[in-house]
This record gives sequence, structure tokens and C-alpha cells, in this order.
Amino acid sequence: MSRHYLMCRPTHFAVDYAINPWMDPTAPVDVERAVTQWEALRQTYLTLGHTVDLIDPLPGLPDMVFAANGATVIDGVVLGAQFKHPERAAEAPAYLEWFARSGFRTHEAKAVNEGEGDLLLAGDFLLAGTGLRTEHAAHAEAQEHFGRPVVTLQLVDPRYYHLDTALTVLSGENVAYYPDAFSPGSQAVLRRLYPDAVLATAADAAVLGLNAVSDGRRVVLPSAAHRLADALASKGYQPIPVDVSELHKAGGGPKCCTLEVRQ
Ligand code: ARG
Repeated sequence: MSRHYLMCRPTHFAVDYAINPWMDPTAPVDVERAVTQWEALRQTYLTLGHTVDLIDPLPGLPDMVFAANGATVIDGVVLGAQFKHPERAAEAPAYLEWFARSGFRTHEAKAVNEGEGDLLLAGDFLLAGTGLRTEHAAHAEAQEHFGRPVVTLQLVDPRYYHLDTALTVLSGENVAYYPDAFSPGSQAVLRRLYPDAVLATAADAAVLGLNAVSDGRRVVLPSAAHRLADALASKGYQPIPVDVSELHKAGGGPKCCTLEVRQ
């Protein structure tokens, strides 16, 4: 159950541009509060027995705190990110360098992919989001690099722009998700793969409750997602709520801040 994560302190956190509907550059942002919330998240992982590595935050990259988007790492193989928006482009080489320096085999991405924002390992295969950020071509690229079958899922609601805002991998066998974030065909795929899934309500989704991190039993999720926490508890998971209200202003949550490093 012990996991290895990479995180990036939100030293340069800001909402200077709007690349998702949650971001309002005219609303005030409290960087100190963002750092405090992020520190509490990191501490939560350490208390759960996980390992947390840190990458240095770079000035001018306010979204770099969202480490999940920096790469995808499975079996020690690293597929770099390739961001859709130029505002975040420089994050990709920064993360790739961190992994190269740490001794991983790294590969530059050809197609647009925003790391674990859209590529989520679920047991033997990868659940892969597309439609808003990651290109469909990146799914084939990920399949070649990781040798894991990819299941393409179409995202249709701009508020749920990354797969990790609409779906949480709870374990190798189960997920939680918000059906309306997906196309009808992708909803059917999810029903077929996960008949026992935890279904999130519109209210859970709207507080980015699905942007959660599970180690198979304990699920770290935004404290505002009350109903989702209850639903998880009734299925035998242990919800661990954290306050990420400041990071939410950029459209982020616990999972966005957390890149899993799978050796
Ligand atoms: N402001 C960032 C963006 O829109 C938030 C990224 C959140 N990360 C995630 N894994 N969903 O790109």
C-alpha cells in the first residue's frame, strides 16, 4: 500500500491566465495559504507511510504545482508530457530532466498528453482521457511505451478537462467517476468495466471531489466532497479529507498535485 510520489511546492502559485473554467485571473489568490494546504497534503502522504520526492518549482510556471501533469511513470519508464497550452509548455522538460537525473529511462512525447491528468493506470491497463487536453494520438503512444492496453474515454464537459477531475482509480479493480463528464459511449465502457463503481454526484464533481489519490484503501480527497466521502466509506474505503480550496482556484486538487512514481 506504500506509494512513491513526486510533488512540487506551490512557491510560484498564481492564477495569471485561464486555461480551464475554474481559473479566474481577476480573483485574489493567497500563495501562503496554497503552500500551507500543499504542506498539509504532503504531510498526509508521509503519515500514511508514502514516500514523497520534491521537484524544484520554477518561477513563471504557476501551474507547476500540478505535478500529475508533468509525466507518466510506469515500471520505471517515463513518458514526458507535452502540454496543450503554451503557458505550461516549459513544465514538460523540467519534469523530464528531474527523472533523467534520478536515473529513469525518459522519452519525449510526440503527441499532446498532460501526464496523469489524462493517463491513469488502473490495474493492468491505462484509462486514457481525451477530448479536452490529451490528444487521441497520445493514447497509442502511451500504449507503445508502457505495453499496457489503453482504454480511451471521451471527456465532454470543459469543467472536467482532465480525466483525473472526472474519475478516481480506487484500486486495480475499481474506480469512482462522474458519468456526465463522459460521452454516452464512454459511460457504457465504464459501466461494462466497473459495474460496482462508486458514482459521484454533480455536487461531488463540482468541488473536484474526484481529484483524489487512493492507495487501494485510503483515499485522500478534497474536504468539500462530503457525499463522495460517505459513498467511499460505505464501500469499505477510508476517506481522508484535505482542504485544497486555494489550489481549487486553478482547477486543481490533491491528485493534480501528485505524480505517482512507479519504479
Ligand atoms: N490550471 C491547471 C490546468 O488547467 C490545473 C491542472 C490540474 N491538474 C490535473 N491533473 N487535473 O492545466
